Amino acid sequence: MSSEWGKNLKLEISGRSHEEFISAVLTGLPKGISISEEEMHEFLKRRSPGTSNAVSGRREEDKPLILGGITGGKTDGSPLKIRIKNTNAESGVYERLKTVPRPGHADYTAYIKWSGREDMRGGGKFSGRMTAPICAAGFAAIKFLEEQGIEITAHISSVGTIKDTPFNPLFISDGEKEAIKSNTIPVISEAAGEEMLSYISNVKNQGDSTGGTIECAITGLKPGIGDALFDGIESSLSSIIFAIPGVKGIEFGSGFSGSENIGSVNNDPFIIKDGAVTCASNNAGGILGGISTGLPVVFKAAFKPTPSIALEQKSVDLEAMEECTLNILGRHDPCIALRAAPVIEACAALSIMDLLLEDNNPATIEKCREKIDRIDSRILPLLAERFRVTDKIGELKAAHNLPVFNSDREKAILENISASADKSCRADIASIYMKIMQHSKARQNTAGNKKEN
Ligand SMILES: Cc1cc2nc3c(=O)[nH]c(=O)nc-3n(C[C@H](O)[C@H](O)[C@H](O)COP(=O)(O)O)c2cc1C
Repeated sequence: MSSEWGKNLKLEISGRSHEEFISAVLTGLPKGISISEEEMHEFLKRRSPGTSNAVSGRREEDKPLILGGITGGKTDGSPLKIRIKNTNAESGVYERLKTVPRPGHADYTAYIKWSGREDMRGGGKFSGRMTAPICAAGFAAIKFLEEQGIEITAHISSVGTIKDTPFNPLFISDGEKEAIKSNTIPVISEAAGEEMLSYISNVKNQGDSTGGTIECAITGLKPGIGDALFDGIESSLSSIIFAIPGVKGIEFGSGFSGSENIGSVNNDPFIIKDGAVTCASNNAGGILGGISTGLPVVFKAAFKPTPSIALEQKSVDLEAMEECTLNILGRHDPCIALRAAPVIEACAALSIMDLLLEDNNPATIEKCREKIDRIDSRILPLLAERFRVTDKIGELKAAHNLPVFNSDREKAILENISASADKSCRADIASIYMKIMQHSKARQNTAGNKKEN
């Protein structure tokens, strides 16, 4: 079996929980992204169950084997092919579930769809295990985005009714990111994390499971990414987040609580900060009309309680067509959300990269023009800000009796610009900068004269 997602990127996931391998093929990656198996493995380890009482007892090494797409440590433009071995399957305990479906799992719908012929050992293709190759592929997208200054951070925002400190949707601090990395589980508040773990452990000891939510923030995304309707950021993110087994809800920004509010409170007022347009609050979760505002994109995904619980449950025997009771054996996660933060990060990275590739490769004149307009809308406020600083320099030079023209400074600016500019357009950029400096000198003279008068 294989399952596909993506528009500009194409992600194909194949295999099943108890087959020999599970795999991912990611097509559409640009050349030159640095990826190593070791780094990818480190990322996958964040999804692994670990050894606490709060996770499944199934121990998988999840070591990815990269079979194609990388040459000399970098993507080479061909499909990235990753394979992960299943080593720790216990298939016998799934025998009874062939005809007696677990309440809350996909056993029943798969039985109906494939007339009982689907391999559902370990949850088959519906297993949380299928998120391992998704994470492996998502890691490539994370690396691509990192190179563009875009960072994705997720934490467990709740387990049952226990809540972690939420993100400030306007700004995600380094301290929060550090805490999420260093705490035993990915949470901002260590105390909340400990409470969550002991709650999960209690629930598990009672033969039960619990749900939870993951909050995710995407920072560094320029304004103007995404599009209307089906091509919006929410549409793209939701399409992949809902592929994660166990996800039953998603909200962006103020989401469901925003729907209980009034417009004057929920609207994010526009303001000017450092010469650029931004918002005073971020109830929109960084998205308006499917398009990024430039503020962090913030969303939450809700995971239901794990369906496989040890407590006796009611089910039916589909062959005998009679009601029965079911005692589920096997090793199960008492809380899916506990392992889901890296899965959400991987899916978010794939979605954002897919949208960015659309933006990077506009296919029509109209799309190219839209892109030029968006670029200009970013350049113009920066130029205006540059000229405002120029005026201030003019005033200061006049106050200190310094000449407007400084040949050393002009030379240094041109050298700097030439060194950073793309080789292919270095001369053009230098001539644009000569014009900018000419204009700056004129403004400095005017500003200095004004100050003297
Ligand atoms: C990381 C992860 C681990 C999971 N572990 C289990 C598990 O141990 N037992 C279980 O019954 N379901 C587990 N699930 C959830 C089921 O796969 C999921 O509920 C099932 O496929 C039905 O899909 P649905 O809940 O999206 O409708 C896990 C999901 C994820 C993402």
